[in-house]
Amino acid sequence: MNNRNAALSAKTSDIKQTRRLVDFCGRTITYLRVSLTQKCNLRCGYCFGSVDKNQIDKREMTNTEILRLIQSFVSLGINKVRFTGGEPLLRRAIADLVKGTSALPGISIVGLTTNGLLLNNFLPALVNAGLNRINISLDSLDRDAFRRITGIDGFQRVLTGIENAENSGAFPWVKINTVVMRGINDSEIPRFAEWALSHRIDIRFIEFMPTENSGWDKDLFMAESEIREKIGLALEEEVAKGDNNGPARRFRFRDYPGRVSFISAASRSFCNQCNRLRLTSRGDVFGCLFQNNRAGLKKLLEIAATGDDISEHIVKVIARPGFRRPPGEVSITEYEPYMQAVGG
Ligand code: 5AD
Repeated sequence: MNNRNAALSAKTSDIKQTRRLVDFCGRTITYLRVSLTQKCNLRCGYCFGSVDKNQIDKREMTNTEILRLIQSFVSLGINKVRFTGGEPLLRRAIADLVKGTSALPGISIVGLTTNGLLLNNFLPALVNAGLNRINISLDSLDRDAFRRITGIDGFQRVLTGIENAENSGAFPWVKINTVVMRGINDSEIPRFAEWALSHRIDIRFIEFMPTENSGWDKDLFMAESEIREKIGLALEEEVAKGDNNGPARRFRFRDYPGRVSFISAASRSFCNQCNRLRLTSRGDVFGCLFQNNRAGLKKLLEIAATGDDISEHIVKVIARPGFRRPPGEVSITEYEPYMQAVGG
C-alpha cells in the first residue's frame, strides 16, 4: 500500500467509526420518518390544525434538499425511511423521492403513511419506485362515520386504495392505523378486528395521544386493555420476528390470515427501544415525538455544506445529552406535538 492509499484507508476507517447514530443513552438510530408537508386533504378533528405556527413562514424543503438530508442520514446507518405528512401524497413527485431513497446503499425499507385518499393515483408509480411498506390511516369502516370524523366523503376511495395495496403484492402487510376514541369509533372495534383478521390486513389500534389541538380528553381515551376486551377474541401474541423493532404488539387469531396490533404510547413506554428520528418538511429534526428538542438542518443546505459536514453535525446533535428523551420517563404529556407537521 502506498502512502496515499494508506492515508485514504485510515480516513475510511475513521468515517466507519462514526457511521452510526447513537444518542446519549446508547440507543442506536436506524429509522428516519420524513414529513413531506404539513398540508392534508382530510380534516380529522383530532389532528387537523396542529401545524407548527413557528414554522409556517419557513419554506418547505425541495425534493433535492430532502434527498440530500436523507442521504446524510443513510450514510450514518439509517436503513429504514418512512414518508409521512400531513398527507405525503400531496407532495409533488413523491415517487422520485421514493426512488432516490430506495436507491441509496444501505436502505432496505421505504415506507409510506398515508390517509389513502389519493393512493389509487400513485400506487403503481410508488411500487415501481421501490416502496415496500405501507400504513393507511382509517378510523371508521362506515361511510357516514368516516365523513363525520374526517370531514370528507372519502371512505370508498380509501377502501379501494387499501384493496389495491393488498392486491399489488408489494407489501408484506397492509397496515391500517386506527386511532380509538370512546364514543366516536369504539363501537366499531370488533368489526375492525374481524375485517382485518379475515383479510390479510394488520389493524393497529392506536391509543389516542394528547397532541397539540387534538381535543384530547380522558373521556375520549381508551386504553389497550379495554380495546382488547371489546375485541373479545382469544388473541395470541405473535412471536417477534423480522422487522418488529417498533412500538406495535402484534396478535394473531387461530389460522386467520390477518393480524391485530396495538400501539399504546400511554399504557406502555417503548422509549428504551426507540430507534427513530423525525424530520419535518421544514428541515427540523426531532429527537422524540413528545419533546420539543429539535435541530434545524436546512441552514446547512443553504450554505452548501458537504454531505460529510451535514452527517457530522447530525451525529453531534443526536449525541447531545437530553436531545432524545431517556428511557423510563413516564409522562407523555410534557409536550404536545404538532401532529400534522410531524406526522406521527
Ligand atoms: N393520537 C394517536 N394517533 C394519532 N395520529 C394522529 N394524531 C394522533 C393522536 N392524537 C395518527 C394518525 C396516523 C398516524 C400517523 O398517527 O391517525 O395514522
